[in-house]
Amino acid sequence: MKLLTLSFYALLQSTAFAALNPLVIKGSKFFDSKTGNQFYFKGVDYQPRTGASSKIKDPLADTVGCKRDAALFSELGINSVRVYETDYTLNHDTCMKAFEDVGVYVLIDIPTPFSSINREFPFWDTDLLQQYKLKVNAFSGYNNLAGFIIGNEVTNSKSNTPASAFVKASIRDIKTYIKSQKLSIPVGYVDNDDEAIRLSLISYFNCGDDPNARADFYGVNTYRWCGKDATYSSSGYDDMISPFANYSIPVIITEFGCNTVQPRTFKEIESILGPDMENISSGGLVYEFSQEDNNYGLVKVSYGSSDVEKLSDFDTLKNVLSSVSPKGVKMSSYNPSNKVSECPAISDNWRVSTALPPAPSADACSCMMNSLSCSLDSSFSSTDDAQNKALGESASVICGLISCKDVSYDTVKGDYGAFSFCNSTQRSSWILNTNFLNQKGASGACNLENIKTQVISNPKAKSMSECAKILTKISSGDSGTSRDSGKDSTKKSSSKKSFTLNIVSFFAITLITCGIVF
Ligand SMILES: *[C@@H]1O[C@H](CO)[C@@H](O)[C@H](O)[C@H]1NC(C)=O
Ligand SMILES: *[C@@H]1O[C@H](CO)[C@@H](O)[C@H](O)[C@H]1NC(C)=O
Ligand SMILES: *[C@@H]1O[C@H](CO)[C@@H](O)[C@H](O)[C@H]1NC(C)=O
Repeated sequence: MKLLTLSFYALLQSTAFAALNPLVIKGSKFFDSKTGNQFYFKGVDYQPRTGASSKIKDPLADTVGCKRDAALFSELGINSVRVYETDYTLNHDTCMKAFEDVGVYVLIDIPTPFSSINREFPFWDTDLLQQYKLKVNAFSGYNNLAGFIIGNEVTNSKSNTPASAFVKASIRDIKTYIKSQKLSIPVGYVDNDDEAIRLSLISYFNCGDDPNARADFYGVNTYRWCGKDATYSSSGYDDMISPFANYSIPVIITEFGCNTVQPRTFKEIESILGPDMENISSGGLVYEFSQEDNNYGLVKVSYGSSDVEKLSDFDTLKNVLSSVSPKGVKMSSYNPSNKVSECPAISDNWRVSTALPPAPSADACSCMMNSLSCSLDSSFSSTDDAQNKALGESASVICGLISCKDVSYDTVKGDYGAFSFCNSTQRSSWILNTNFLNQKGASGACNLENIKTQVISNPKAKSMSECAKILTKISSGDSGTSRDSGKDSTKKSSSKKSFTLNIVSFFAITLITCGIVF
């Protein structure tokens, strides 16, 4: 149906711009797949939020706004935008076409504030996998989709490096999904240029034997270059880019444009797209198109309105962009020889082994659920704050007493519980059940204060160890996953402490999924 509509639209539009050619990556560079010319991102970050009222902000569903801004993109001379937050339930045909018509490619961030890997309490679970797939489906049909960004500054300090293990698992599973759809769309990760962890992150996302688990490109959000007097070396841009000199995948400066000194001069663009960096970088995107509370805008616009007020940075950027023209190389004459990175070693600043969390399997989770003798009642609502909080408190008490290993993890040991990818409600039921069995099904052992639970006298199916077997069959077997099943749950109290910590945390993700923290 969608195809029909598109080709019909194409007929009507046959006098408009030729369609943009898909981009491809070879080695550490992007290319136009048809012309073979190297492609550099000359872009802006695009997330107008003023006047947007819906829960999930989606500028690519604002058809008035997109047509307004397509004309401005053309005037600015940009060829790309990055859009952070979009809603896969909405239609994006008009906006994607409006941008394609002015030669603009789009980088789409997959997560939203409502469904993303939480940096403090990370999990990669069946619910998130489903959400991410739906986002891929919503955008994968567009010629001018430049790529997906799977995470933005998820690990942003040395205190939350474990989150990167889950992000990398999400890269593996989303790249696998894209391949299964017979599509070829790059998937990248973006960091926050934090000195203490950046080298580890840069290596981590481009290391390991499984090409599916490595990022296809890497982004850096950097605000080092401030003020008109800064230079390539005084800003530290030389240090920022140097780890990428021998990098085997492309690097994009996904955010730049420090605003502590106003007005901005955007002189860093002469480095990013000029002799200093053109052999290493694939260009960059200025933060950001619209003026918002944080004061980085080029224009003042409002959702659904065609009115525009240009700010002084608009013309400055336009002039700088028109002055640069990176030469690049032809795809056919480029023979990349850079090797994949070495995985970072465990240190105080890096608490992640090379073993990845397993791929979420909804089948294994429903099998596990069917084997329970005690679980949350079906009336439990994961969107009810009070119930979530009460559940979180109970679960942390229980997991202080028994091992909750199978629904928890240890990223340093590379130990991931067999059901750690089940969603928060399912993980909770696992905990209740284990506690219940541990008390030999004593009367009241399934009860929780203020939350309805149920005792199931004839579990529908399979023992939990059989569910773990399903899991072994479907997994690639290369993830270092712990396959311990429920019967082991009372052993190994030595590792209880770290698991307990993580278990307390997994209820926070439920809260976050419900939009309370963000
Ligand atoms: C990149 O590789 C070249 C040749 O192997 C080497 O001389 C150079 O030091 C490397 N640069 C970095 C930043 O690793
Ligand atoms: C960039 O690459 C071109 C072509 O390979 C080369 O001639 C030039 O010297 C390189 N520039 C720098 C700064 O390394
Ligand atoms: C967890 O999975 C079950 C079964 O697929 C589903 O009904 C539920 O909505 C999911 N999410 C949460 C947060 O419970």
